[in-house]
Amino acid sequence: MHAVLVTVYLLLVTPYTTSWWAAGSELVMNPKQMCKRARRSKGKMAEICNKSRLLEHITTGIMLAQNECQYQFRHRRWNCTSSKKSIKKVMLRDTRETGFVNAIIAAGITFQVTRACTKGVIGCACDKRKNKRKNKRKKFLTPEQDWEWDGCVENIEFGIKKSKDFLDTRYKKRSDMKTLVKLHNYVAGRHAIKENMRKECKCHGLSGSCSMKSCIRKMPSFREIGNHLKERFDGAAKVIAGNDGQSFMPEGETIKPPSRFDLVYSEESPSFCLPNTTLGSFGTQGRECNETSPGEEGCGILCCGRGYHTYTKEVQKNCRCEFIYCCDVKCQTCNESVRISTCS
Ligand SMILES: *[C@@H]1O[C@H](CO)[C@@H](O)[C@H](O)[C@H]1NC(C)=O
Ligand SMILES: *[C@@H]1O[C@H](CO)[C@@H](O)[C@H](O)[C@H]1NC(C)=O
Ligand SMILES: *[C@@H]1O[C@H](CO)[C@@H](O)[C@H](O)[C@H]1NC(C)=O
Ligand SMILES: *[C@@H]1O[C@H](CO)[C@@H](O)[C@H](O)[C@H]1NC(C)=O
Ligand SMILES: *[C@@H]1O[C@H](CO)[C@@H](O)[C@H](O)[C@H]1NC(C)=O
Repeated sequence: MHAVLVTVYLLLVTPYTTSWWAAGSELVMNPKQMCKRARRSKGKMAEICNKSRLLEHITTGIMLAQNECQYQFRHRRWNCTSSKKSIKKVMLRDTRETGFVNAIIAAGITFQVTRACTKGVIGCACDKRKNKRKNKRKKFLTPEQDWEWDGCVENIEFGIKKSKDFLDTRYKKRSDMKTLVKLHNYVAGRHAIKENMRKECKCHGLSGSCSMKSCIRKMPSFREIGNHLKERFDGAAKVIAGNDGQSFMPEGETIKPPSRFDLVYSEESPSFCLPNTTLGSFGTQGRECNETSPGEEGCGILCCGRGYHTYTKEVQKNCRCEFIYCCDVKCQTCNESVRISTCS
């Protein structure tokens, strides 16, 4: 139990090491480099670039997105690798993977900027509109009706606006297919947060009668947002250019038009089975797979039917952990042999 807690904690605080999205590749997005040019001009982008605090949180948001992408795709043939050689190629296309990355970047920026706003570490106005909501007219109130917003509501609109200013503004004058798809996926990324905001309430009143409640609106965790977007990735809709050249429509006539929550793409993904530098694919040879799973992480799918090697490996694990009052956990190290399979 304790050992598990320790592991989870370590995963959460692991620093973002390589960060191509935010620092490496200009194609995917390098706020510093993007700002070098933008600062000299006017407009929303220049405004953002002049605010170094805000820019820092935008950069952190992009790193958050990268980290989550790697978590969500850790068992897939394309594992959202941090190699510039791969991601550049993936981002030049318009596949499902491209769509997911765009959506999660838009979500990451929105999430981090909103969080910074709520914490009061960047200048932003509190969402007062929501604070007014209180049912005053009715004389007798059921607990359900009588509640008020507590303090500053998490200001998602501010985060959405900054994410838009930073990402979408550049494409204002363009209406080519790839741009339309990209803008749509940005919106879907932001909606994954907005639609999953929740109200958290505390009861007040005599002996827990809950005659009065105060509530705050909270964003879901970024992991939850990642999970939602991964589901959208799995059900993403393929689209083709509309007749007017200003829109897109689903490829199949019977498929209903994608909503703002859906991810869209216009190009089929490569299989990512074999290395191919043109496609940014490293192939799956040598990747660890699960012998018994029928899913994406299973050796069947991950190794693309090429087969796999299995060997046993001694690993050292924490075991016989003891809780020592207070507050320490002491563990012994045990050897354990585990079976490991890797793709041929
Ligand atoms: C940003 O700052 C530079 C120099 O500090 C200034 O010349 C420029 O007008 C500012 N731009 C905006 C949009 O605030
Ligand atoms: C890599 O992929 C491209 C595009 O699908 C294909 O034309 C090319 O032949 C592939 N190269 C190799 C070495 O498989
Ligand atoms: C992703 O896959 C590549 C090979 O396809 C591998 O070298 C790399 O270690 C993997 N990354 C992670 C985080 O598993
Ligand atoms: C492999 O897959 C099986 C079935 O899905 C699962 O029960 C098991 O925990 C997986 N093993 C590892 C090491 O993830
Ligand atoms: C575990 O394995 C290492 C070497 O792999 C060995 O030195 C050590 O004595 C082993 N520990 C136990 C408890 O068996």
